[in-house]
Amino acid sequence: MTIGERTQLKINTDRLMHSIDELGAIGAYHDAEANVMGVHRLALSPEDAEGRRLVKRWFENAGLTVSVDAIGNIYANRTGLDSKLAPVMSGSHIDSVPTGGRFDGALGVLGALEVVRTLNDLDITTRRPITIAAFTDEEGCRFGTDMLGSAVATGRIALDDAYGLTDADGKTVKQELEAIGFLGAEPVGKRTPHAFVECHVEQGPALIHEGIDIGVVTGVQGISWHKLIITGTSAHAGATPMGFRKDAGLAAARINCRLHEMCTGSKYGSEMRATMGVIHPEPCMINVIPGRITATVDLRNPDDNAMHNAEQDLDDYLQHITKELGVQIESRQTARTPAIIFDESVQIAIETAAKTHELSHRRILAGAGHDAQEWSAVCKTAMIFVPGLNDGISHNPRELSTPRQCADGINTLLSVITRLADEGE
Ligand code: GLV
Ligand code: MN
Ligand code: MN
Repeated sequence: MTIGERTQLKINTDRLMHSIDELGAIGAYHDAEANVMGVHRLALSPEDAEGRRLVKRWFENAGLTVSVDAIGNIYANRTGLDSKLAPVMSGSHIDSVPTGGRFDGALGVLGALEVVRTLNDLDITTRRPITIAAFTDEEGCRFGTDMLGSAVATGRIALDDAYGLTDADGKTVKQELEAIGFLGAEPVGKRTPHAFVECHVEQGPALIHEGIDIGVVTGVQGISWHKLIITGTSAHAGATPMGFRKDAGLAAARINCRLHEMCTGSKYGSEMRATMGVIHPEPCMINVIPGRITATVDLRNPDDNAMHNAEQDLDDYLQHITKELGVQIESRQTARTPAIIFDESVQIAIETAAKTHELSHRRILAGAGHDAQEWSAVCKTAMIFVPGLNDGISHNPRELSTPRQCADGINTLLSVITRLADEGE
């Protein structure tokens, strides 16, 4: 079979969707508000552990050699004709946000598995090895830092710093890796793939609205996460005159409004996004002024200068609110990644693959963070996006890509992986 013929191969869509459904059943819950089944599979939880065991078994059944590294990343290797050549790596994550869908991350891991299963069916061995990866805690919802496993594997975050991160109950990453049996023996930082490609749902409305089949991802915008602890004084809601209050709830509300303003003007560019996703008041009672608020701030911007200015604006505003409302604010940055630009040649390979499969495509910047952005520091990297229904909604149980949309993405991934895995030195 020629390389040209190999790039036209097609995956088994039913098998892919069956795997997505089977993994999606782990941590499944009925979301009453959306009236659909969602996924709750927080990093290093018992559900994550069950998902990991299932995926590991599937890797082994596909004839792959599986290893787990010291931060719990799972790698599955398929031999190539030339074992001295660096592998093409493809993968993503299987942890979810607490109210997630079946596709975020899972499509990238199970799609890479489907690529390997298809190559196995056809008895094709590529020149380079192929490595599938499932990375630890991409979401950052439990331990506060996103892309944790891939960031440790590629050197942005030190292993000991990652081990020391704690969840809301004070449990550390290291304890929880041990508890679920995924504190692996492989040292981190030893892998340098030839290339990295990740397929993922877009998680936004652009592709579905424009009727485009494939997004060729040009890069990822910068991310800046902060944890705020706002301390005022809890007191009686009826008996405390307005002028006597130190209301932490009011401070959080003001900060949230300021974040919104930062995204409506042109000061930080038209793509600035800001979210206060956690607003947790204590004591959390109808007739008590909140004495303490724990809150988070998530800033996104594709322009590093604009992001820097927005961070400065936030800091200045926190100082201002402290003085105006008489509260104290402790602010800590919990995660920070710069804007990332993906490799042009891998983007061209994705475009070529999409054309081969007669799929419409366009270039697109990723709104969310992804494991691929970490691997772009060590090898040529890009991503494939597929559209989702319901305006591409994600981090929501309504997240949904059709079998056709998933297959388009994974057929493209199959072509790209086989092409890159046949490249020489
Ligand atoms: C990961 O999904 C993120 O962008 O927060
Ligand atoms: Mn994801
Ligand atoms: Mn996500």
